[in-house]
Amino acid sequence: MTKRGGGGETIDNVIRPFSFFRSGARNDTSTAQKPILVLEDVFKYFREDKPVLRGVNLTVERGEFVFITGPSGAGKSTLLQLIYRKHTVDEGRLLFCGRDVGRLTRESIPFLRRNLGVVFQDFKVIQHWTVFENVAAPLEILSMPSRLVRSRVAEALERVGLAGRGVDRTSSLSGGEQQRVAVARAIVTEPALVLADEPTGNLDPQLALDILTLFEEINDSGITVLFATHDHSLLEARPHRLVVIDEGRMFEARDGLREWAGATAREESHSDIRGLRTGVR
Ligand SMILES: Nc1ncnc2c1ncn2[C@@H]1O[C@H](COP(=O)(O)OP(=O)(O)OP(=O)(O)O)[C@@H](O)[C@H]1O
Ligand SMILES: [Mg+2]
Repeated sequence: MTKRGGGGETIDNVIRPFSFFRSGARNDTSTAQKPILVLEDVFKYFREDKPVLRGVNLTVERGEFVFITGPSGAGKSTLLQLIYRKHTVDEGRLLFCGRDVGRLTRESIPFLRRNLGVVFQDFKVIQHWTVFENVAAPLEILSMPSRLVRSRVAEALERVGLAGRGVDRTSSLSGGEQQRVAVARAIVTEPALVLADEPTGNLDPQLALDILTLFEEINDSGITVLFATHDHSLLEARPHRLVVIDEGRMFEARDGLREWAGATAREESHSDIRGLRTGVR
C-alpha cells in the first residue's frame, strides 16, 4: 500500500484504501447509511451436535452503545470472535458495514481488523514494551509515517487519561491504567466499531465504572461500542441497550436487566442464569 497520500500525512490518506469499512466513508454514502453490524440467523458450531449460537439475529446502528450479557458459556465471546473473524459463521450471515465478514478472503481479514478495536478482560498488552510501543503497534502494522504515529498515539493516550505516560514501561502501570493502554490501542486507528469482551472483569468496582465511562466517552465521539459483561452493577448503572445471549439465542431486554431477570425467573431452569442474577459466576 502507499505510505503517503498526495494531500499530506493524515490517517485518512494512509488507510483510505480500506475506507469502505470506516464510518462516514466519503465515497460510499450507501455504506455509511447501512447498519454497522447485522447478524442474520447466525449459527456457530464447535461441536456438531451442539451449536454455541443458534439463530442469532442482531442489528446495530452506527453510534450505538450495546451491552451484551448472559450466563458464562452462553456465547458472548464467541459472538465477538465471529465479528473480528477469529472464527467463521457456520450458517447465516454476519455483515459489518454491509460486507459479509464470513466471506472475506484471508487477505482481507487484516483490513477488517483495522476497522475494529478489541479490548479484552486480561488487557493483552505487552508488559515489557513501553506504553507508546503498545499503543503504536496497530499503526506500525499499517506502515504509518513515524511523525503521524507519534501524534496519533499522543492523542489516543490523552483520550484515555494517560497523557505523557508513553515512555513508561507497561508493567509499571496499575491494572486500571493497563486497561486504559489497551483502550488507547483499540481506538488509535479510529475504528468504526470497538468490541469489549469483559473489559472490567479484572478491575475493582470503582475502576470498572471508570473504564465503562471511558468507553462511553469513546462512544460519544462516534465510535460504536459492543460491551460484553456479566457485571450487574454496570448494567444497572447505565441505561444502554441491553441484549442477552442465553443458550445460544439472543434477545433484547428493552427495559434493561429487570425485564430479563423477570423472564428468567419465570423459567427458573438454568442454574447459570440464577448464578448470574445473584452476581455469582
Ligand atoms: N475455540 C473453541 N473450541 C471449542 N469450544 C469453544 C471454543 N470457544 C468457545 N467454545 C465453547 O463455546 C461455548 C461458549 O463460549 P464463550 O467463550 O463464547 O462463552 P461466554 O458467554 O463468553 O462465557 P464467559 O462469560 O465465561 O466468558 C462454551 O461452551 C465454550 O466451551
Ligand atoms: Mg467470554
